[in-house]
Amino acid sequence: MKRRGAVTVLVYYPEASEAKAYAALVRTRRGQIRLAVCSTRDEARAAVADADVLYAWKFPPELYASATRLSWLQAMGAGVDWTLVPELPANVVVTRVPGVFGPWMREYVLGWSLSITQRTETYRRAQHERRWREDILPDRLAGKTMAILGLGDIGRTIAAGAHALGVRVIGVSRSGRAVRGVERVFRLPQLERALSQADFVVAVLPLTDDTRGVIGARAFAAMKPTAWLFNIGRGALVDETALMAALQERRIGGVVLDVFTTEPLPAEHPLWAFDNAIITPHISGPSTPPELAPVFNDNLARWLGGRPLRHVVNRARGY
Ligand code: OXD
Repeated sequence: MKRRGAVTVLVYYPEASEAKAYAALVRTRRGQIRLAVCSTRDEARAAVADADVLYAWKFPPELYASATRLSWLQAMGAGVDWTLVPELPANVVVTRVPGVFGPWMREYVLGWSLSITQRTETYRRAQHERRWREDILPDRLAGKTMAILGLGDIGRTIAAGAHALGVRVIGVSRSGRAVRGVERVFRLPQLERALSQADFVVAVLPLTDDTRGVIGARAFAAMKPTAWLFNIGRGALVDETALMAALQERRIGGVVLDVFTTEPLPAEHPLWAFDNAIITPHISGPSTPPELAPVFNDNLARWLGGRPLRHVVNRARGY
C-alpha cells in the first residue's frame, strides 16, 4: 500500500558536513518527504519522534524509545551490529548496503597482502640506508592460501579478487555452503582446520554472539607461524590479549588490523608498538554518500510505494 501523508526521513551522521552530504543525495518526488538532518544527539532527540524512516550511522540507541513512528532503519556502513540493540523496537525493519564495501575491502586486502609478499618495508628501509639488497627476493602471492572468514557479499568479493590473482581461497561461514572461486568452505566449528592451512586469514565475519572472540588463543595456536591475520570485520572478533601474546612470541607472521575493540585505538595501546602489526584507522571499507545514495533511494522509492524493501537484515541471525 502506498504511503500517504507527510513522511519524515531522519538523516543522522555524527558529523555535520557528512550528514548534509548524505541528505543532499536523497531523491524523491517533490513534497513526498520531509528531511530532518541531524549530527548531534540533541538534534536527533528533538527530531526522532517524527521520524518514519532513519538513514543513519551509529544512531544513539537511547533515542529509539521516542521513535514511535519509525518503521524502517537504513544502516549506513557495512556492519549492522550497532543497529541490533534491544532498544530498537521489534517492528522496525533494518536494511543494509550490499555491493559497496566489497570492492574497497578487496583492494585493501590484496594491497596489504602484496605489500607483505613484495616486502615493501624491507626495500624502503634499504633505500633509506642506501643499501642494494639483492640478497632478498620478494615472495609470490599466487599459490598462497587465503582463508576468508565470512562469505557474505564482502567476503565473496575479496575471494573473487584473490582467486583471480592465483591465490588458493578457502573460507569459513555459518552455513558451510559452497561459493564460486572458494575451494573449500568450512563451517564455523571447523575454524581451526581452515586456519591451519592458511598463509593469510581475512576476518570479515559479522559480529554476533557466535563470532565474538572467535579468533583467540586456539585460533592462533592453529595458524602457521608464518601466517598473517587481517581483521577488517569488527575488533571484538579477535581476542586482543591473545593476539598480543601471539605477536610477542612470534607465533604468527603478523597482523593487519583495521578494526579494534576500542576505536579510535588509544595512543597508549600496546598494539601500536608491535613491529609485526600493521594498523590502519578503520578505513578499509569507507562509507561515502554517493555510493550509499542509490541503495537508499531505491529502497525509499519501494518504501513509499508500499513495495518490499531490499537487503533486509535478519534481526534474529544478526546480519
Ligand atoms: C562499518 C563500516 O560498518 O566501516 O564498520 O562501514
